[in-house]
Amino acid sequence: MVSYKELGLVNTKEMFAKAIKGGYAIPAFNFNNMEQLQAIIKAAAEEKSPVILQVSKGARNYANATLLRFMAQGAVAYAKELGWENPQIVLHLDHGDSFELCKSCIDSGFSSVMIDGSHLPYEENVALTKKVCDFAHQYDVTVEGELGVLAGVEDEVSSDHHTYTDPEEVIDFVTRTGVDSLAISIGTSHGAYKFTPDQCTRDPKTGRLVPPPLAFNVLEAVEAKLPDFPIVLHGSSSVPQEYVDMINQYGGKLPDAIGIPEEELRKAAKMDVCKINIDSDSRLAMTAAVRKVFHDKPAEFDPRKYLGPARDEMEKLYKHKILNVLGSDGKAE
Ligand code: G3H
Ligand code: 13P
Ligand code: ZN
Repeated sequence: MVSYKELGLVNTKEMFAKAIKGGYAIPAFNFNNMEQLQAIIKAAAEEKSPVILQVSKGARNYANATLLRFMAQGAVAYAKELGWENPQIVLHLDHGDSFELCKSCIDSGFSSVMIDGSHLPYEENVALTKKVCDFAHQYDVTVEGELGVLAGVEDEVSSDHHTYTDPEEVIDFVTRTGVDSLAISIGTSHGAYKFTPDQCTRDPKTGRLVPPPLAFNVLEAVEAKLPDFPIVLHGSSSVPQEYVDMINQYGGKLPDAIGIPEEELRKAAKMDVCKINIDSDSRLAMTAAVRKVFHDKPAEFDPRKYLGPARDEMEKLYKHKILNVLGSDGKAE
């Protein structure tokens, strides 16, 4: 067994306590390849932002679990090399779906895990989440649980409909399981199509879709029940329309892709939401940059010539999130 402490990683405890007090949120960026990881670490190191590196079950299957763990270990060394003396980096399992998967991650050096029992009947979610917490806490690993169901379709994470979190359940869930943070459902969803055109209105000037608002009343009700408790928002990509346009311009096909407006995420970050999950935006940035190179330079076949610009675009995106959406810059000097 490898302890995350030996790898120079930290858990989420102190990070979340500071974020709630300070009215900002920690970025949780998914990664499954080297360019994404380089871009995340460069952005976090340059902005001195605490950061959560998220690995999904699908990412582990894609990139190999051992390799990903060593990449995260390398990320700590890379952050120091970039001049970040005391990097605050969490290695987190995103959407763990079994005790065994959570245990395997903890055994290999993860400092935080999510056990997602949100699709299970309530009592089964409680039992599974408690089992993971009891194991993880022996090693000072923090645990995220989830109540409520997100809509949207994402490789390993799918649900056709959403059910907002019931604020009446949160005290019981948190007390009986011992979770360190709670993911809730207030209308966000995974992927690049967070709302159907029917759910939106159209801006008459631009013709762009305008999404319906998130259920801030649910978040407020949860906060009233659990004051100062770390809340997590999944499905928080904004689906920047400039990337969607670039992708469509250079041969892609993403009609009516739409995300969560940044103003809503800024508002959530100032509340008790202290972890905001972003994956799709990075995929869009990467795809847009690669498509542009393929279009502009059809003779190019050195992967560094298209993955390099993709990496630069992702770094720009991560910095923008840290500085202009989450407000986590300068919080890990
Ligand atoms: O919440 C889902 C994340 O975006 C991870 O997606 O399962 O396709 O790696 P993935
Ligand atoms: P997005 O698909 O909105 O980026 O959400 C990512 C996520 O919630 C990862 O758990
Ligand atoms: Zn998620």
